[in-house]
Amino acid sequence: MRKKIIAGNWKMNKTVAEAVTLVQGIQAELAGCLDVEAVVCPPFTALKSVSDALADSQIKLGCQNMSDQDNGAYTGEISHTMLRELFVKYVILGHSERRSYYGETDKIVNRKVKKALANTLRPIVCVGETLEQREAGRTEQVVEEQVRGSLADITAAQFEDVVVAYEPVWAIGTGKTATTEQAQEVHAFIRSIIRDMVGEKAAKGLRIQYGGSMKPSNAKELLSQPDIDGGLIGGAALEARSFIDIVKAGM
Ligand code: PGA
Repeated sequence: MRKKIIAGNWKMNKTVAEAVTLVQGIQAELAGCLDVEAVVCPPFTALKSVSDALADSQIKLGCQNMSDQDNGAYTGEISHTMLRELFVKYVILGHSERRSYYGETDKIVNRKVKKALANTLRPIVCVGETLEQREAGRTEQVVEEQVRGSLADITAAQFEDVVVAYEPVWAIGTGKTATTEQAQEVHAFIRSIIRDMVGEKAAKGLRIQYGGSMKPSNAKELLSQPDIDGGLIGGAALEARSFIDIVKAGM
């Protein structure tokens, strides 16, 4: 049985004070939550304060990016050591915004995934097609390429610490959610690729999140699909009430 994982991707939002207020609001209802794994991914500047606020909580801390290098002359980058020091457990890698605005390729994402796994950080690896690609009937081809490229050389044992997020780019921040059928279909497809790459056991154990305008009103239906094991939430994670309600939809 795969435990559902709901992660809030706060993107470039929230000052330190706002971040602490938000996480306290989430804590008020979910601090002891064991049924669903709840993760918050604030911006780097708020990690320390949110980490302190989460001491003794079941809610886990994640971040939104990480360098593929260990340390040294990489201006503007953040290393796995710096993140581990703040008790970060999860790192979102290869989000479509990083792929499209900052030129992250599958190769770069793959280097980051390997670096994260080698340093006991759990990657949430994002894949998904654009509207143009979907309309051209290329969804499976694009998703397969991203999955195989971003997760190249990852062993079956390492897959225990990997989460994949299927986020159709046309559904991110647009209010347009994939239908449950569309989402389930791609999730099952992703699982079949993983089965082909590393075998049945790893494929069965892998948690695959859906992301793209998930909100309290559509979460339950999406999360009831057999291959949808959680959500990566943007807009609806910026308010405690809606994030809590999505986590509860996964219980
Ligand atoms: P959204 O973002 O929920 O605002 O669509 C999801 C994401 O980008 O992870």
